[in-house]
Amino acid sequence: MVEVKDLYKEYSIKKRGATHYFLKRSERTIIKAVDHVSFIVNQGEAVGYVGPNGSGKSTTIKMLTGVLQPTSGEIRVNGIDPSKNRIENNRNIGVVFGNRSQLWWDVPIIESFGFLQKLYQIPDSIYKNNLEYFVDKLELQNIINRPERQLSFGQRIRCNIVAAFLHNPAVVYLDEPTIGLDLESKERMRNIINKINKERETTIFITSHDLLDIELLCNRLLIIDNGKIITDTDFDNMLKIYNRKQIFKCRVIDKLIDIPMNLKKDIKVRRLEGNHLEVEFDNQKIDIKELLEELSRYVSFSDVSIESMSIEDIVKKILIRKEQ
Ligand SMILES: Nc1ncnc2c1ncn2[C@@H]1O[C@H](COP(=O)(O)OP(=O)(O)OP(=O)(O)O)[C@@H](O)[C@H]1O
Ligand SMILES: [Mg+2]
Repeated sequence: MVEVKDLYKEYSIKKRGATHYFLKRSERTIIKAVDHVSFIVNQGEAVGYVGPNGSGKSTTIKMLTGVLQPTSGEIRVNGIDPSKNRIENNRNIGVVFGNRSQLWWDVPIIESFGFLQKLYQIPDSIYKNNLEYFVDKLELQNIINRPERQLSFGQRIRCNIVAAFLHNPAVVYLDEPTIGLDLESKERMRNIINKINKERETTIFITSHDLLDIELLCNRLLIIDNGKIITDTDFDNMLKIYNRKQIFKCRVIDKLIDIPMNLKKDIKVRRLEGNHLEVEFDNQKIDIKELLEELSRYVSFSDVSIESMSIEDIVKKILIRKEQ
């Protein structure tokens, strides 16, 4: 279980021109990276931690893993305070930072894994089982005897995933694990994370800008913006609320009169660029016939399609609403 209470982290950065090592208040700018965040993640949950660039996701994960000390607030991961008992905490957790490797650059991957076995005191049988399992699932047979420096970016990330799971951790933090991966590698990665979450009840806490990762892996979504959690929701519930909204897309052949942004209650223009028109409507309140009739007062159109709102659209909506 991961318990986070009133977690706060500020960075103090030097203003331009400030000179002293011990900076006066007036010479510093304070950045509230994580601003009084609280949540509880139960064992076996898969939580997506989503937000714009700079919203505080990586800072949170660094505190959860004990890499950074909070300015204030409390964290307990299976009862352990990560920054005070880092070594003990490390036995329970696995971490993947998509942009930083945990392995040794010049050493064959398999030797890095062997070193981790010693570090975490992983019994031989568990180590062998896990190694076999991950090497097979992530197709690393031809890679593990080579040093990391010879591998491609995607191959490195796959090796880092193995490293994070080798010791059967209870909680795994993944900070943008699919960044830079091709579609096939992403799919392989999602499948394996999903499988481990379901079969071993490993808790997954993941950030990603590819919201398909979140949709496919998680049952709960935390949205963070400017260091504050603005939404904490069950995934299915969120979809129920927002999925009523559908997107109607078409190609405009001719404009009859200017089209207003709010066509009617429950019909809104989302996008009109060149001859591409997108309209959002509530399919519980408006039927297609009514929508088509309404639109034909303004435009003639072809190439019609209707889609449900994507998770990406929903998150954007939540973030925009918060700003208003
Ligand atoms: N070492 C640091 N020193 C000063 N400020 C920092 C430091 N690390 C992060 N920040 C600032 O803290 C805020 C949160 O950064 P963080 O890396 O946690 O964001 P993020 O949500 O992970 O963003 P991204 O999606 O781009 O990875 C940002 O304003 C960032 O500039
Ligand atoms: Mg980040």
